[in-house]
Amino acid sequence: MVAISNGQGGEQGWSSRSAFILAAIGAAVGLGNLWRFPTLAGESGGGAFVIFYIGCVFLLGLPLLLAEIFIGRAGQTDAVGSIRRVAEQSRVSKRWSLFGGLGALAAFLIVSFYSVVAGWVLYYAGVFAADFGSAVLAGDPFRGALAGESQEQIAGRMGNLFADPMLLLSMHFLFMGATLFIVARGVSGGIEKAATWLMPGFFVLLIGITIYGAIVGDVGEAAAFLFTPDWSKLTPEVMNSALGQALFSLSLGVAGIITYGSYIREGTKLGSTAAAIAFADTGVALIAGLMIFPIVFAVGLDPAAGPTLVFQTLPFAFESMPAGSLIGLLFFVLILVAAVTSSISLLEVPTAWGVGELGWSRTTSALVFGAGAFAIGVLCLLGYNVLSDVRPLGFWSIFAETDILDTVDGFTGKIMLPLGALFTSLFIGWRADRRLLETTTGLSRGMFTLWRFLLAWLCPIAVTIILVTGLFPSLLGAE
Ligand code: TRP
Repeated sequence: MVAISNGQGGEQGWSSRSAFILAAIGAAVGLGNLWRFPTLAGESGGGAFVIFYIGCVFLLGLPLLLAEIFIGRAGQTDAVGSIRRVAEQSRVSKRWSLFGGLGALAAFLIVSFYSVVAGWVLYYAGVFAADFGSAVLAGDPFRGALAGESQEQIAGRMGNLFADPMLLLSMHFLFMGATLFIVARGVSGGIEKAATWLMPGFFVLLIGITIYGAIVGDVGEAAAFLFTPDWSKLTPEVMNSALGQALFSLSLGVAGIITYGSYIREGTKLGSTAAAIAFADTGVALIAGLMIFPIVFAVGLDPAAGPTLVFQTLPFAFESMPAGSLIGLLFFVLILVAAVTSSISLLEVPTAWGVGELGWSRTTSALVFGAGAFAIGVLCLLGYNVLSDVRPLGFWSIFAETDILDTVDGFTGKIMLPLGALFTSLFIGWRADRRLLETTTGLSRGMFTLWRFLLAWLCPIAVTIILVTGLFPSLLGAE
């Protein structure tokens, strides 16, 4: 039915609908679920944040997710080309495709620092692997982690890592190299294979560690913390971060799902596919909370530690837990697996753009964007040591105190991602041809009306609020 312009959708597509679902879940489930969600939930005081977050996922995230899958499915090529094709078929300006380019740029920037953070995870996986190795050699494989180290020593590892540019760089190099390797191998031969091998292992580990946490930790306290709302804690900033987190966690706003959606061959049941992805992603975030907080509470540690929760608080908790060394190793391997299946989805967006719009080969495109993102990542990691005084957007009040990595993170997360989501909702909510939407999504009449209403009204309004309050935090009464 739809002509294929560059062969990406035809020759390179997913081999089945379940392969697409698995790859998209792999893209959605990442550091956002296992590192950022528990960090934010902990900092924001738990229940009220979590409940508001779930509302954001289903009222805003799910309609946007379906909109992106639709664009990819209908367009069958890279994000820019796909939007252009939907615009043509809807007889509206082809300039809408510019937001696909914005998305590809955002994905390129995100993968640069994502790989740096995944590099920290790789380092900790290495630390725990060595620790578990020595536990085995000592004939005590089920001992606690990092035996004999003080809390200061364990916490100090993070500082030592950050002070060591070569170590950070090696980890970043390894992670970006693995990402590039998979993306260069193509959709069915690389991305799909990685997802179908890694995601089942991911779920086994996730459930296993959660059961472990339930046995040795304090699940009751964790569940109460995560699900009992104290509405006084739902400040405008907390709502703002919940909205932004919902977009990030579902991989929305940077054309990632458009790109993955373009490799779908059969067009049926896009609605239930989108729902499955949103449920799985949210389920994993909640389970991550139920995995991490019982362990944190069992040792009486602080859930509001912030970004160091996973890197300092948890390793310390593993020290006094039975089999903490082994569980610590498995825990960091779990995060690493989730991070790889996400980083490939990020690098795939500019790579597909290079193939579709510039006519490059897949290998060239993956190499160019992978190397470029690696270089930006190097600047990010130097921001913790050699370049620690650099404030790239220091002239701008919201980034005045922000180091390099946090600037790239903040600029993409606070500005580019909401902008991408805003354009997506306006384009599909108002401009795209109704018949094309109906036939491609195959939604029932009632669901279709609800979907378009949410896209046309709720999404643009809510996302504009995130964008404006993100740019002018003083409007929220903060600082
Ligand atoms: N969603 C992933 C996570 O939670 C990150 C990610 C992958 C992403 N692809 C994306 C974020 C595209 C934004 C856009 O870790």
